[in-house]
Amino acid sequence: EDESLPKAVKIHLNETSPEVVKLGSGSTPGTRVRVLGRVHRLRPQKETTFITLRDGYGYMQCVISGQLAKTYDAQTLARETSMMIVGSMFEVPKGAHAPDNREMHADYFEIIGKAPGGEDAVTNKVQAKGDAQTLLDMRHLVLRGETASAVMFVRDAVEHAFNVKYHELGYVKVSPPALVQTQVEGGSTLFGFDYYNEKAYLTQSSQLYLETAIPFAGNVYCIEKSFRAEKSLTRRHLSEYTHVEAELDFITFDDLLTHLEDLMCGVLSIVFANPRIAAMLQELNPEFQMPERPFKRMKYTDAIDWLREHDIPNEDGQPHTFGDDIAEAAERRMTDIINRPIFLTHFPVEIKSFYMSKDKEDPRVTESVDCLMPGVGEIIGGSMRIWDYDELMAAYRREGIGEEPYYWYTDQRKYGASPHGGYGLGLERFLAWLCKQHTVRDACLYPRYMGRCRP
Ligand code: 4AD
Repeated sequence: EDESLPKAVKIHLNETSPEVVKLGSGSTPGTRVRVLGRVHRLRPQKETTFITLRDGYGYMQCVISGQLAKTYDAQTLARETSMMIVGSMFEVPKGAHAPDNREMHADYFEIIGKAPGGEDAVTNKVQAKGDAQTLLDMRHLVLRGETASAVMFVRDAVEHAFNVKYHELGYVKVSPPALVQTQVEGGSTLFGFDYYNEKAYLTQSSQLYLETAIPFAGNVYCIEKSFRAEKSLTRRHLSEYTHVEAELDFITFDDLLTHLEDLMCGVLSIVFANPRIAAMLQELNPEFQMPERPFKRMKYTDAIDWLREHDIPNEDGQPHTFGDDIAEAAERRMTDIINRPIFLTHFPVEIKSFYMSKDKEDPRVTESVDCLMPGVGEIIGGSMRIWDYDELMAAYRREGIGEEPYYWYTDQRKYGASPHGGYGLGLERFLAWLCKQHTVRDACLYPRYMGRCRP
């Protein structure tokens, strides 16, 4: 490194402030900078090598030319090599394109971690003819790509936005346990294990625990993992997913629906206010439109009529009738045709969970809601909760649930009960919708679903 040159400022690749990085033009160099990252793209030309360096913060075009370009390291450089590059910043020449319209003219570089070229080159590993399973086996390398990483950046921004929005609303975040001895959403999807010689499960939902936090905290939320032993391979089912859940105290069912609209629109505005994330979303989902409020509200019975009118059959190929669970395919067709967010409400008692309270006007149905989004289907499931002691006891009996392990949940109905409700939102489904990904698997760092537990 030439010690006679001006001292280089160490920067991250997103540092564009003109006070820190001045751009030179023509023969006048700008600020001399030192950057560290990995080779994202490489365009070797006769006398010059163009590198797009990536450091997670951003990208920078670095130009290696002259004697430097003739070195062994420059000649054998391969994508994903980690390196340090030092040089002066310039505006990009007219007509050329580079990130942030600038480039660095290198005067020195060091290889830090080599990556292989040829057969073993990263491009050969991840381009495996688009085969989804190979791409998942190579997920650790796929994640370095622009699309896969953009979804991860959006995921971070969305999770952050939920925290911001809930705190704006004055909700308290709690962290319920993942190892539990109760079920929430039915026995068929429970992952059981031996817990010091006792039967225990991985949690399906933190809801019951959130309900117990209401009396000390008021409105509460959590963002935790939920686990479901789903025995089918669909594009929206994972066996481990991130569940955004909240419980609201002293509310009506209508309050719950209004809150859900406010939450989702609030989260989206926070996310889109971040220019880097907004630019990524523009690439991932250019047609995205902010949902219009109020969301369409549709009762289950009206959905059954709609499905019959549109000749969309149930799972047995028959016209839908009251009491049918609306299956994934039918639900998605309906959502795609209506093509806007839908609150589907008032599902029959028989097809919903034990804890949901009944509609006073029609006790055949519950005060329940699924929020359906075009392209994905259900992203939220919520309801008002039974808050009467005897009614809860009857619900346990109806569902064949032994009440003993639930004593702490039942006690909420004994010590100062209140009308309350809540919901769970599948973060990966929300992201699949927002980022227009075909499957929720692409919204996970390392997806877990039937048959896959690695890498
Ligand atoms: O409708 P679900 O099963 O509701 C509950 O678990 C409630 N106890 C939540 C609550 O009220 N606190 O799940 C809620 C949401 C679904 O709408 C979906 O977005 C997501 O969780 N979800 C899954 N996401 C990915 N893979 C799976 N296997 C999922 N199962 C549910």
